[in-house]
Amino acid sequence: MATNMQGKTVLISGATNGIGKQSALDLAKMGAQVVIIGRNKAKTEETLREIQTGSGNKDVHALIADLSSMAEVRRVAADFRKQFSRLDVLLNNAGGVFASRQETVDGYEMTFALNHLSYFLLTNLLLDMVKASAPSRIVNVSSDAQSAASINFDDLQSKQSYGMGGFRAYGQSKLMNVMFTYELARRLAGTGVTVNALHPGVVNTGFGRNNKGLMNVAMNVLSLFTMKSEDGAKTSVYLASSPEVEGVTGKYFDKCKAKKSTAPSYDEAAQKRLWDVSEQLTGIAAPAAV
Ligand SMILES: NC(=O)c1ccc[n+]([C@@H]2O[C@H](COP(=O)([O-])OP(=O)(O)OC[C@H]3O[C@@H](n4cnc5c(N)ncnc54)[C@H](OP(=O)(O)O)[C@@H]3O)[C@@H](O)[C@H]2O)c1
Repeated sequence: MATNMQGKTVLISGATNGIGKQSALDLAKMGAQVVIIGRNKAKTEETLREIQTGSGNKDVHALIADLSSMAEVRRVAADFRKQFSRLDVLLNNAGGVFASRQETVDGYEMTFALNHLSYFLLTNLLLDMVKASAPSRIVNVSSDAQSAASINFDDLQSKQSYGMGGFRAYGQSKLMNVMFTYELARRLAGTGVTVNALHPGVVNTGFGRNNKGLMNVAMNVLSLFTMKSEDGAKTSVYLASSPEVEGVTGKYFDKCKAKKSTAPSYDEAAQKRLWDVSEQLTGIAAPAAV
């Protein structure tokens, strides 16, 4: 029997495609009030209608933001606070890989800004609402790309080395998702808020298709061997809703099971260092000690 999510408010980034869209649909079917963040107004409104129709749940809402911009992250967090009174599940999902190095409006490397800094900033800006809604959950979509990654704190913006068609910066950003999760779990101990990260599997979505040339060809070939979004959303939805993981925090999941992430992800000094530099780059003050 599906979990009943009635009375719960869920906010999902990157919900206009792929894993995020499927997660939004599944959670709407469970009766949650679902708020999706999309960057393209027309596509987001179309997605909103599809989720409402597909789930039979009208309590689905849309907010618009380009999450690679820290000002837009701040604005969308403020929009959410104006319109909604609680936040039971924050599902940080928006992300991508970029074959060539790009910079955001803030002058940050795109993968780092979108995949890590937007998770960090959105979470911190809404943390008081998440705490006030406890027992509540934060779910960070990472990737097994973290397993081969390391963080070069001397080159967070990947200026000296981008390389590997964007996959070095991508792996680094997904390792950051895991390290952010572990550090946040420690900071949230005793609050009733859990935070977990996950690998969704290798899923046939829009992932990588923003790139032209070889990357797009590779994604077409890969799509023959990948799973559908319906299956790719399972671990996100499980962590967002299942009673089985009530109270479970600070873990990395794959196929709805906790597993070890790469050894460097457990380095607490590096987690703290990442937190501090993320605070500086997003301009957010440290959350009050809990
Ligand atoms: N697919 C996989 O095999 C796989 C494996 C491991 C991890 N993941 C992770 O899963 C997550 C979801 O990816 P996916 O596979 O579902 O990819 P996807 O189909 O490309 O979906 C990505 C979502 O993020 C949104 N997005 C991209 N850039 C954005 C921006 N600047 N501002 C706001 N939203 C933005 C996209 O919006 P648009 O609809 O406007 O493009 C879309 O809704 C990512 O974090 C990815 O790293 C995926």
